[in-house]
Amino acid sequence: MNNVRALAAETLYQVVDQGLSLNQVLPAAAAKVAVKEKALLQQLCYGVLRQLPSLEHYCRTLLTKPLKGKQRVFQFLVYVGIYQLQHMRTPAHAAVAETVNALQALQAPGLKGLVNAVLRNFQRQQAELEAAANQVEVCLYNHPGWFIKAVQEAYPEKWQTILAANQQQAPMWLRINQSQYSTDQYLALLTEANIVARKVDGFCDAVLLEKPCDVFSLPGFAEGACSVQDGAAQIAARLMAPQAGERILDACAAPGGKTCHILELADNLAVTALDCDETRLARVQENLSRIGLQAQLLCADAANPDTWWDKETFDKILLDVPCSATGVIRRHPDIKWLRRAADIEQLALLQSSILDKIWPLLKAGGTLVYATCSVLPQENKDQVKAFLARTDDAIHQPLHDLDTHEQPGWQFLPELTDGFYYAKITKRP
Ligand SMILES: C[S@@+](CC[C@H](N)C(=O)[O-])C[C@H]1O[C@@H](n2cnc3c(N)ncnc32)[C@H](O)[C@@H]1O
Repeated sequence: MNNVRALAAETLYQVVDQGLSLNQVLPAAAAKVAVKEKALLQQLCYGVLRQLPSLEHYCRTLLTKPLKGKQRVFQFLVYVGIYQLQHMRTPAHAAVAETVNALQALQAPGLKGLVNAVLRNFQRQQAELEAAANQVEVCLYNHPGWFIKAVQEAYPEKWQTILAANQQQAPMWLRINQSQYSTDQYLALLTEANIVARKVDGFCDAVLLEKPCDVFSLPGFAEGACSVQDGAAQIAARLMAPQAGERILDACAAPGGKTCHILELADNLAVTALDCDETRLARVQENLSRIGLQAQLLCADAANPDTWWDKETFDKILLDVPCSATGVIRRHPDIKWLRRAADIEQLALLQSSILDKIWPLLKAGGTLVYATCSVLPQENKDQVKAFLARTDDAIHQPLHDLDTHEQPGWQFLPELTDGFYYAKITKRP
């Protein structure tokens, strides 16, 4: 089956109803469609996940009986159809006809009449349906209720901006490999290649592309001249400030963006890149190989160093802990529907256990950088504050004026960059 809309419906069903991530299912679906349709498949899946509560709301009005059980995949096809009518430039008649045709590929030609009627009714009633949905908070913001509440509480003045930013397509940032080119030199290469990009204050290794492009059109990409990495993600290695000869642990390393960045910034580093996921660890090796860098890779549990640590302490440790990933929703809209409120407490427990278990591996006088791609305080400032309170030899190192003992750390919000969090802690010499 290679019908792009049918594949989008199946992929969405796997994510929303079966709880699989887009990363797990989209590549297999994309492999089935023609090259020129891959972007459309992605747009349909990302778009529906961004607008899911509204689409569900419309369908509750438009379908007298919701499609249940084995028919759920057709409900997602209806969302795909409405999404095109509401948000894409596809002519309406083509959007309806192509969506109805996808039922053939899904072996449900008997539903053509129903789907056709629902889409036509949406067109006729669009203004009223939208007005009604906008009365419902989860539909107005298109985020789960628990998350809207959490962001409102954490950011009473900025919560709407954060939720709106999550609904946007994320920009493409590059990290320039400073051991090959300065950022200015690489910008000149991009200009020669007719790729429009700019530097952004405060992000010294980064350029921001005007629009996303294929990585293989980037000068020197195959040779490691640059890597795709969000601007805020690039702060980690600069906070680590690696110096020649240091022994460094990247304790949750995969896919290795930050490991590679650390290695690009200094010679003669002994970097251990640890991750508990073997498949993801293979991605670290791929990234290291492309750039021509070396690290010791270890597939192990950061929360259980007794099983892998050789008892030699590290000068510096990067702890980019597993987190809710609520700071990267615009890049992974499935996160909104895969995460549950209860996950946050579990994640916070895991993070504090990893922090406690990894701390003894840092040498006296050494530096630990704690990082997440979350916007939630439980995983960020609350986590670090509690760690500082229970750890006698931990010294908080403020990263800016607002990074205080009461509210430690540096929170990036999803705006120009993704929503990352950092805190720097040193060990008393
Ligand atoms: C946020 S990602 C790391 C991203 C990475 N630092 C980068 O910049 O490319 C978190 C990683 O932690 C790993 N992880 C989760 N629990 C872990 C554990 N107990 N021990 C080691 N790694 C773990 C996950 O497999 C995942 O790759």
